[in-house]
Amino acid sequence: MMARLSIVGAALILSVASAAAQATTSRAARFVDSLLARMTLEEKLGQLTQLPGRWGDTGPVVPEGGEGEIRRGQVGSFLGVFGAGYTRRMQEVALQSRHKIPLLFAHDVIHGFRTIFPVSIAEAASWDPQAVEHAARIAAIEATAAGLHWTFAPMVDIARDARWGRIVEGAGEDPYLGSIMAAARVRGFQGTDLSAPNTMLATAKHFVGYGAAEGGRDYNIADIPEVTLRDIYLPPFHAAIDAGAGSVMASFNEVAGEPVHASERLIDGLLRAEWGWNGVLVSDYTGVLELIPHGVAADSASAGALALRAGVDVDMVSRIYLNKLAPLVRSGRVAMRDVNAAVRRVLRAKYDLGLFADPFRYSDTTRERQTLLAAEHRAAARALARKAIVLLRNEGRALPLSKSLGTIAVIGSLATDARSSIGNWSAAGRAEEGVTVLEGIRRAVPSARVVHARGADSATADTSGFAEAVRVARDADVVVLVVGEHQEQSAEANNRAFLGLPGAQEGLVRAVRGAGKPVVVVLMGGRPLAISSFADSVPAIMHAWYLGTEMGNAVADVLFGDANPSGKLPVTIPRTVGQVPLYYNHRNTGRPPVANQKYTSKYIDVPWTPLYPFGHGLSYTTFAYRNLRLSAAAMRPSDTLIVSVDVTNTGDRVGDEIVQLYIRDEVGTLTRPVKELRGFRRITLQPGETQSVSFALGSKDLAFHDAALDLVVEPGFFRVYVGSSSERVEEARFELVDPRRCGKRVLRREVPRFTWPAKSRMGAVICR
Ligand code: BGC
Repeated sequence: MMARLSIVGAALILSVASAAAQATTSRAARFVDSLLARMTLEEKLGQLTQLPGRWGDTGPVVPEGGEGEIRRGQVGSFLGVFGAGYTRRMQEVALQSRHKIPLLFAHDVIHGFRTIFPVSIAEAASWDPQAVEHAARIAAIEATAAGLHWTFAPMVDIARDARWGRIVEGAGEDPYLGSIMAAARVRGFQGTDLSAPNTMLATAKHFVGYGAAEGGRDYNIADIPEVTLRDIYLPPFHAAIDAGAGSVMASFNEVAGEPVHASERLIDGLLRAEWGWNGVLVSDYTGVLELIPHGVAADSASAGALALRAGVDVDMVSRIYLNKLAPLVRSGRVAMRDVNAAVRRVLRAKYDLGLFADPFRYSDTTRERQTLLAAEHRAAARALARKAIVLLRNEGRALPLSKSLGTIAVIGSLATDARSSIGNWSAAGRAEEGVTVLEGIRRAVPSARVVHARGADSATADTSGFAEAVRVARDADVVVLVVGEHQEQSAEANNRAFLGLPGAQEGLVRAVRGAGKPVVVVLMGGRPLAISSFADSVPAIMHAWYLGTEMGNAVADVLFGDANPSGKLPVTIPRTVGQVPLYYNHRNTGRPPVANQKYTSKYIDVPWTPLYPFGHGLSYTTFAYRNLRLSAAAMRPSDTLIVSVDVTNTGDRVGDEIVQLYIRDEVGTLTRPVKELRGFRRITLQPGETQSVSFALGSKDLAFHDAALDLVVEPGFFRVYVGSSSERVEEARFELVDPRRCGKRVLRREVPRFTWPAKSRMGAVICR
């Protein structure tokens, strides 16, 4: 009876809550409509205009164009400026405009605001969505205190090409992990109530296919088959939108000959009509103007017309909407309906953020003083940084190091590079507030003699520091060699055609190894580095990425065993750049590689396998997987199959393991990947402890887009793999049966181009 009553009670609360949500929605719509009805065309175009903020020597200054543009209602938002006092002053100017429409302040708050967390690829390496959500929450708490309302994050681009500099900004190569991280970060930034003073609008970017730039060259074209677009590149965007992302940014690239900024098919069609999303679509920086060099617009007016028609609401920086669209609207070349729809979405975002109720809600100097770099924010950054470190190799248990070592040589210019420790896109982060690797080591072992030598840097071929590095190494008990890329080498437009250590660092590794002391390599960087030249000849390698404000402390925690490493690679590490693109979820081909069989798909000069596979990462303890079992040998599309395995900590330390589950569809109407991640779980095990870990598989986990672009599951055999990486796995098999003998089950039917119905049919199970 009690249970029954509580169910009734819960249902009542739910229906009251949804009635309240509906009332808010229609109140918001009425407010926006009545405002829109009073606006001139120029004021409308102003709302769609985002201008760059300007920084003077001591902080943000009155933006280009002066306060007049704001007062005339010609600016809807600013980019790149913040500060509670400053944004308050600018809002005061906006309130002098005819309709008193508050401004939006936007910025790239990517992996922290003032307290900097690990770069996004490193956050993904933690495989810990709760911790990643918490990091985004803290970033929003800090950023909103400084007057920001809108972040251009999360970046959810799938990247299969290590040459691409922006691989550092996403969650790596896998759509499943990428989707989980995308949703976690949206939840963190936006919280549960966008109007709260410490939550901000999140932007899923860059829509879409930006990570597939040909040759790994940023901004290059992306040639993506439609099924790959839907199975690989789109899912993280869908996950971000399901999590409530209020904004999406268009990408610079073209897909199949259509620049995304002009793609009605992708923006108004797929995002809005098919997925039913109604948030703010912002252009990328000068993305509207770039339709001219793309070659689809002859001049800026046509570029603006194309972008607005495609569904780009906000013109970032190009000023084309503001300066060029009014005559086109008046002559009918651009539909007023499209302008109104875009303005409605912008005004609605301002309403949802609570800015009409209180334009100064986010500009709170007291809160700004109290929250930035708060002690608990630093503690969270350190905890996540520890989890993000991936131990790639640890021969003879070279790590952890003893704290009673006499002399430790720390070699490499990156060991003292405070700017690189916090990584690119570090918002209001300050290098001097961060802890470098050298500082972290010194703090962790105050009794040891810690000697630093620069050795070489990552930007020049200068070898003059080698001799001193070798001398310092000879005098030490152990060498911690910090090498990799400085933060500008893993970032926008920083694409590389070689994936080895840049500068003279490979030579430095050789020279230091020659000193005959145990060498522990700490790799810094934002991309998979092809380190075959030394990977087998140093005892230990840890991938430490750029870990943020607490970088040095986290690295020392792991080096000296105060933390047990648990991160796993969210990307495949190739042996050499020639293997790229190299990713674990590839298709099999008709001639999969076989050693000693020449006419199979491989190289004659390098193995086809990666140096380290996706999902790889060691611990100071060991884990054994036993007793993989399935709840049934066969399932129907409507069933749930339970996959279980027993994981035991067989070592002598407490440790976290990330248990990974992959599937393979053995036979499909289209070729299927050799493995696809479909679940993971982070568990903590005491020495000797065993835990049974279970995963539920349903038809949506087995689905893919077929040749008709329907999302389908096809009857037949599937393999299930569970293990500690994409390579180290236990294996089982089950059959998907369809008693109705349909060829396949359609989970979601894609809608033909240009005839989008109001709603997608996602979730429906239709037998064809
Ligand atoms: C980047 C975006 C970023 C924007 C604004 C562009 O260059 O591609 O990711 O959000 O600048 O800073």
